Amino acid sequence: MSTVQDALQALTDLTPGRQQILADAVAGLSHASRQLPSKYFYDARGSRLFEQITHTREYYPTRTELALLDRVLPQIAQAVGPRVHVVELGSGSGRKTARLLAALQDPVAYTPIEISRAALLSSIDHLAPALPDVEMLPVCADFTRPVQVPVPDRPAARRLLFFPGSTLGNFADEDAIALLRAMRQTMGKDGLALVGIDLHKDPALIEAAYNDADGITAAFTLNLLARLNREVGSDFDLDGFRHQARYSTARLRIETDLVSQREQDVHLDGRTFHFSAGEPIRVEYSHKYTDASFGHLLQQAGLEVVAHWNADHPAYGLRLLRPAP
Ligand code: AVJ
Repeated sequence: MSTVQDALQALTDLTPGRQQILADAVAGLSHASRQLPSKYFYDARGSRLFEQITHTREYYPTRTELALLDRVLPQIAQAVGPRVHVVELGSGSGRKTARLLAALQDPVAYTPIEISRAALLSSIDHLAPALPDVEMLPVCADFTRPVQVPVPDRPAARRLLFFPGSTLGNFADEDAIALLRAMRQTMGKDGLALVGIDLHKDPALIEAAYNDADGITAAFTLNLLARLNREVGSDFDLDGFRHQARYSTARLRIETDLVSQREQDVHLDGRTFHFSAGEPIRVEYSHKYTDASFGHLLQQAGLEVVAHWNADHPAYGLRLLRPAP
């Protein structure tokens, strides 16, 4: 067994258990305006459905970001310089991480930060074989807080945090600022961060991306209730709630709700939650940024833009960031 595998075995798996999910669900449903955390979308079925979403005609962000990365990776490598330690927020088993590492000049180490040990394992399994000179240093942690990054055997010139996929957009502004502040700490004084952000555009295009004609996004959203029924014993009627994703031009974000189709009761942990007809549960935000709105977050977080690359039609952005002086 390799040393990477041994190191992974030693990591504490931080995947939320039944008690944590139950506590979050009860807290969210007890709010005056009901909500459930979007991070619970991604059980095995939810992750498969998200992968399917990325292949729908309507969902442009994934393919747009990949094409943009392919086009500008040489410029990114130039801006970042040699011998970096790449630190990814979330585990990239996928194409983006492999392409970034392949394009960089002599990358020293790769650290995925991820709460699930299983996801870390599969990420390293996918990436390590093609990258024998890159030291694999996975960390089990919550990337929304500052993370202690392991020191590679070979000295690195700097850290490069990698946060693709417009995952930042799922965080409400105050949470996005807290996350960017944590990133500033994690990257260190000479560090950089490469962040993918979906950009504001024709609301019809954005809304279509979250309302695909085959209903895969609706199935993805409703899977949250199926997961809760299975894992914490709630009794949501999956036919009693409908997926609704609308773009707010005032707040520059997709707001996704599961809307109760009738008056009904849902039971969870010995409690009864009463829903009126038309009552929503807010389950996801997906922010679409302008330079102004993203700049506001950066300013609050003490970060600044070093370089930026955009795709047009549909608009999508990559931003290279560093700590502001
Ligand atoms: C992968 C979280 C960025 O918000 O666009 C896709 C998730 N939700 N369709 C996004 C998602 C509905 C996606 N992120």
